[in-house]
Amino acid sequence: MTLFDVYPLQPLRIVRGEGARVWDDQGHRYLDLYGGHAVISIGHSHPHWVQRIETQLRQLAFYSNSVELPLQAELAETLGRVSGKEHYRLFLCNSGAEANENALKLASFHTGRRKVLAFQRGFHGRTSLAVEATDNPAIVAPVNRSGNVVFAPLNDLVALEQAFVEHELAAVIVEGIQGVGGIRMAEPAFLQRIRSLCTQHQAVFIADSVQCGYGRSGRFFSHDHAGVSADLYTVAKGMGNGFPVAGVLIGPQFEAKHGLLGTTFGGNPLACAAALAVLEVIEQENLIERAAQTGQYLLDELRRLPLLEQLRGAGLMIGFDVPAPQADLRKNLLFQHRIFTGEAKGGVIRLLPSLALSRAEADEFLEHLDQAIATI
Ligand SMILES: Cc1ncc(COP(=O)(O)O)c(C=O)c1O
Repeated sequence: MTLFDVYPLQPLRIVRGEGARVWDDQGHRYLDLYGGHAVISIGHSHPHWVQRIETQLRQLAFYSNSVELPLQAELAETLGRVSGKEHYRLFLCNSGAEANENALKLASFHTGRRKVLAFQRGFHGRTSLAVEATDNPAIVAPVNRSGNVVFAPLNDLVALEQAFVEHELAAVIVEGIQGVGGIRMAEPAFLQRIRSLCTQHQAVFIADSVQCGYGRSGRFFSHDHAGVSADLYTVAKGMGNGFPVAGVLIGPQFEAKHGLLGTTFGGNPLACAAALAVLEVIEQENLIERAAQTGQYLLDELRRLPLLEQLRGAGLMIGFDVPAPQADLRKNLLFQHRIFTGEAKGGVIRLLPSLALSRAEADEFLEHLDQAIATI
């Protein structure tokens, strides 16, 4: 059997990671400002995370959701405290798409409605309704086209209000900072208007925090910057620091019923141990505050560099457009300077490092970026 070839691959074999560094099978060391697509939140193979998973693995790797699993309650309590959402409840699942799929379902169950408003350039995953709410027709299969999703441009208040006039919406789903779409910030006034319209029309506000959440923006949720509270938050990526785990934080107005949602693997003991380790390290190492500070430093320094266009972001979720003459910048950073960065459509470089990235590592990146720009 061979692999189903769906990923364009860099010709590299990464075999080890530690903090913000990874190594390939040739022994070359790389600085990782991509974090395996915003997944590495507390640093590769953080010792506390390794120890928590190892201990749990020796004790009990898996049991199903048919028995009480105390680690789930511990995770819900800790996540409530760290995120400031103590009065929400937690549904655990395995991936970002699954979290959004469940959030959309919950919104529809709750309102009895079908229509969902999503935004241009948004990305919500590759499953049934999550992919239909994703603004990329190339990945939407005919079977996913239910006709239940309508799109509006991000930050267009008129189009937003119009959507509420034209449709009886079950939900609005929005990333506080679009990730795959190229680090596009939802403006505070836009998020605040979504909040007030959802309240007025009894629609559900879903804050897709799969990429922009878990402290990455310098606040626990990027939507917090706008001072709004969503009805449902979806989380994944940074939640497990590489261990697959995801969740939906569910506001108090939703009624839980046995059988309403479910999953085999979601909330398994190993995933809970990994997710608890992440939250413990976030608290102990003050990582959200550090992400805010290191991110601001990076933004300030990047602003000084020539040729970078349209710098944007918050915390350690930063993007900029690469001008045409610098089209190979990301490749050069990777193969000549051994620095991983992310990309997005239209020549955008995305920086999504571990929240524990140090000032020295940020400086190292800036120095190499400066050199890479100068040599083109
Ligand atoms: C904002 C957002 N939502 C959802 C997803 C889907 O997550 P997953 O790949 O874990 O299904 C992603 C993945 O990149 C994402 O960036």
